[in-house]
Parts: sequence; C-alpha cells; structure tokens
Amino acid sequence: MLPAVKKFAYNASLIEREDLSDTLSIFHIQPDGDTSEPGNRAPPVPEFVAGQYAVLGVYNEDEPDKGFVRRAYSIASPPEERRWLEFYIRYVDHPTSNNPLTHLFWKMQVGSRLWLGPKITGRFTLAHTVGEDDPRQKIFVAAGTGLAPFVSILKNVLQQNVATDGKASNFILLHGASHPHDLAYKEDLEKALNLVRQRYFPTISRPRLHPDWRGDTGRVETFFDAEKLEDLERRLGFEPGHIAPERCVAYICGLQGTIANTLIALFRRGFIPNDRRIRAAVGLPKDVVPSLFFEQYDSMPILDLSNAAFIQSLRETFPTGLSS
Ligand SMILES: Cc1cc2nc3c(=O)[nH]c(=O)nc-3n(C[C@H](O)[C@H](O)[C@H](O)COP(=O)(O)OP(=O)(O)OC[C@H]3O[C@@H](n4cnc5c(N)ncnc54)[C@H](O)[C@@H]3O)c2cc1C
Ligand SMILES: NC(=O)c1ccc[n+]([C@@H]2O[C@H](COP(=O)([O-])OP(=O)(O)OC[C@H]3O[C@@H](n4cnc5c(N)ncnc54)[C@H](OP(=O)(O)O)[C@@H]3O)[C@@H](O)[C@H]2O)c1
Repeated sequence: MLPAVKKFAYNASLIEREDLSDTLSIFHIQPDGDTSEPGNRAPPVPEFVAGQYAVLGVYNEDEPDKGFVRRAYSIASPPEERRWLEFYIRYVDHPTSNNPLTHLFWKMQVGSRLWLGPKITGRFTLAHTVGEDDPRQKIFVAAGTGLAPFVSILKNVLQQNVATDGKASNFILLHGASHPHDLAYKEDLEKALNLVRQRYFPTISRPRLHPDWRGDTGRVETFFDAEKLEDLERRLGFEPGHIAPERCVAYICGLQGTIANTLIALFRRGFIPNDRRIRAAVGLPKDVVPSLFFEQYDSMPILDLSNAAFIQSLRETFPTGLSS
C-alpha cells in the first residue's frame, strides 16, 4: 500500500526557540525558500506588512488519528528580517479542541518541520488602518502574547529613526502580563520607546506573587479606568483629556476581555471602534471614521450586542452627538 499523501506538505523549519518560561516561548521559523532554480538566493521570508499574521500547522505524529491542526499567529519580527519569522506563543493550558496546536509546538525542537500557510495576511497594520503617515499618537494596548504585532510594527517604524525621538514619541505601548518574567522584549522596548520620557508601560496583574515588582500593577486595560486615565496622561506629559481621537489612535491586541474593557473605557473618550457590528449596535453612522482597531486571539464575542440595556448604557457614555 502506498503511504498516505499529506495534504499540507511541510515547507518550513524551527531554527531557534527561546523558552521564557514553561508556557511562553519565542520561535524562529524559516520557510524553505525558492529552490526551484539552481543558485536561487531569494530570501526565504515572503514580503508582508508589519502587524500581519501567518498560519502555522503541524500533523499530530504521536496520535495520527487527530490529524493536522493549524492556527493563526501574529508575526513579531519586522518585514526587514528576511531570514526567519519570529513568533511569540503561549502554551494553552485549557484548550478548546482535542488537538491543540500549542501542545504539539511544545514538543518541537530546533530542526522540527512544520507547515507555513502560503498567505501572510491581516489588516491590523498602520497602512490598513489610518495610514503610515497619520500624524496622531498611536496607543498600543497589548495583553500577553498580544504584544507580537506591536513588536513587529515598532521595529519596522523605529529602525528608520532610532537616533532621535522623532518617531518614538508617536508611539505609546501598554503591555499587561501576569508576571514580570512574562514581559518579553522589555529591555528592547524600554530602549526604543523611553528615549525622552516613558512611553512603554508594562503592568503586572498578579503583583502579590512578585513583592519586588516596583512598576504598575493591574490588567493592562486598567490604565483607562476613569480614575487612572488622567494619571496616565500626566505621566505622558499630556493635558487631561488629551487621549481622544483628534490626537490619538488606539490599537488593542489580545483576548476578548482586554479588548472589550479597553473599548468600553475609550468609548467614553469618543474613540470609534472599527468593528461595523459594534458601530451599528450603538447607533454610530455607517461612514464615521474609526479610531480604535483590534486584533482578537480568541473567539469569544467581544460585546454582548443582544443586551439592550448594556448597549444603551454604552451609548450614553459616548461624549458627543454622533450616536443616533
Ligand atoms: C489573528 C490571530 C493571531 C494570533 N496570534 C497569536 C500569537 O502571536 N501568539 C499566540 O500565542 N497566540 C496567537 N493567536 C491564538 C492562536 O491562533 C491559537 O488560538 C492559540 O495558540 C491556541 O491554539 P491551540 O490549538 O493550542 O488551542 P485550542 O484551544 O485547541 O484552539 C484555540 C482556538 O482555535 C479555534 N479552534 C478550536 N477548535 C477548532 C477547530 N476544530 N477548527 C478550527 N478552529 C478551532 C478556536 O477559535 C479556539 O479559540 C492568534 C490568533 C489569531 C486569530
Ligand atoms: N483561545 C485562544 O485562542 C487563546 C489564545 C492565546 C492564549 N489563550 C489563553 O489565554 C490566556 C492568556 O494568554 P496570554 O499568554 O496571551 O496572556 P497572559 O500572559 O497569560 O496574560 C496577559 C494578561 O492578560 C490578562 N488576561 C488573561 N486572560 C484575560 C481575559 N480573558 N481578559 C482580560 N485579560 C486577561 C492576564 O491577567 P491575569 O493575570 O489576571 O490572568 C494578564 O494580565 C492563557 O490562559 C492562554 O492559554 C487562548
């Protein structure tokens, strides 16, 4: 009998793996590149826009009946890095499927083979949202591995001008993690963003486990709590009320809770989400320009749009007469 042909032929290798903890790792994946012509030296990484994601997949070799599994992962490396793609991945303790990809990833060693989807895609980029030349301050809100697309965007933008504060001052990054050791990229981000004043704000949500931690505490969205937002503005050197869509654009990446809580808090400041269903539910005109963008890693509904009382309370928090 002929061996079964695998539909998803492996076309990439794990070339480096850095384990930040038992459940959090940075992977470097190298696509095979074009070897169709002898001497072809085309860089193996396809072109993409910072902020986009790739799809990775693996066959379950230990339990072949479970077959192949693929999932989306944000690329953490900038497009200028043509040798590999970097991914920042959390092992999922309580998976929803019976063939969780992260459990297969955690068995992988340098040299392991995998499938990289042919299309790198996604609209969570500067170019696909407000445009690269939009002059407003960008507020990046990341929970956990939701940091990945922002690392790619920041490396991409800032390496064009790291020597001065010209570009760094346009980016503010809030990153929430449970533990200090989960704050990947911390030193690089401090160096890149805190050139003149603090623009990178890490926060720890389980501070009782880390009595030595001297920085901010609470989940990342608590920076936008009504009683804390002006304090954030003061630390950034802004007037109270500065964080508003005339001067800022918000980007959120992570799980449903982080996105929902940030969205609700920034709605009070007049930020308009890019999600058409949310805009329609709260009665915002169809053609209103969005100022808040998000990338969601799980599949929970962001807001309960069927809850009329909740939607009404949300409408009432919107500052101007835009909402009908
Ligand atoms: C755009 C995007 C970018 C992401 N980037 C990152 C990242 O940079 N780092 C990171 O750690 N995670 C990222 N994720 C989450 C990642 O895709 C996986 O959901 C996560 O790693 C858990 O996968 P799992 O298979 O181990 O867990 P599981 O719980 O088994 O599956 C996780 C998700 O897969 C979906 N799913 C479950 N079963 C099925 C099925 N039978 N068929 C199809 N889908 C199913 C569900 O939506 C579920 O939420 C991203 C997700 C998205 C959408
Ligand atoms: N279903 C999926 O597709 C999927 C994808 C990625 C991750 N996950 C799972 O989601 C969890 C978070 O993963 P991560 O590595 O990205 O982040 P993480 O490092 O575990 O957590 C980052 C920050 O997000 C907070 N947080 C966790 N869950 C949240 C929620 N539902 N809403 C709002 N904030 C939340 C954490 O607060 P606390 O310290 O208070 O928890 C922490 O401050 C893990 O359990 C992971 O297994 C699921």
